[in-house]
Amino acid sequence: TPLNVVTLCGSLRRGSYNAAIARTLPELAPEGMRITALEGLGEFPLYDADLQAEGFPAAVTAMGEAVRAADGVIFVTPEYNYSVPGVLKNGIDWLSRLSPPPFAGKPVAIQSASMGVLGGSRAQYHLRQTLVFLDALALNKPEVFVGAAQTKVTDGRLTEAGTREFIGTQLKAFAEFIARVGGK
Ligand code: FNR
Repeated sequence: TPLNVVTLCGSLRRGSYNAAIARTLPELAPEGMRITALEGLGEFPLYDADLQAEGFPAAVTAMGEAVRAADGVIFVTPEYNYSVPGVLKNGIDWLSRLSPPPFAGKPVAIQSASMGVLGGSRAQYHLRQTLVFLDALALNKPEVFVGAAQTKVTDGRLTEAGTREFIGTQLKAFAEFIARVGGK
């Protein structure tokens, strides 16, 4: 059976460059890796322990199950004010309260895109810090930072050849990483 890899995108906007990259990943994946997008972060309420006490929202439970069932997770996210967008952090915060914790021992990879030259690198390092507490297994290298994303995406897809090739290299490394550490 193919590797089941899911993506979580940190941007909700229709024209998102990060969503465009996530949408293009299936074309760039190595043989034997199936990549699908997890939708629904925008339906999560703002985290509130009182809400949690009333029962997890259905969107949170469903996403937790999808993450648990996945062989690997790829975060594709913008950088907001040098950090992780609130939408993604809120999603991670909800998911982290589920039992068993969906990200524990889960292989994860990170990609980010921005219109600036650094391509969201500062957000990635904040995200990596959070992944430590989640006890996820984060792929270190190669790191994918897509700068000047507005010049690399056309009609909602990643079209720039060099970036496509480089992301393909990360996906191949991720498949090898999953084979090495993913004991699901
Ligand atoms: C940004 N942007 C941005 N870019 C960056 O490189 N570093 C940053 O810290 C920020 N901060 C930031 C904060 C907020 C609130 C917004 C709305 C935007 C710009 C950002 O990279 C740009 O809007 C991207 O297009 C967002 O990604 P999506 O939505 O295209 O995936």
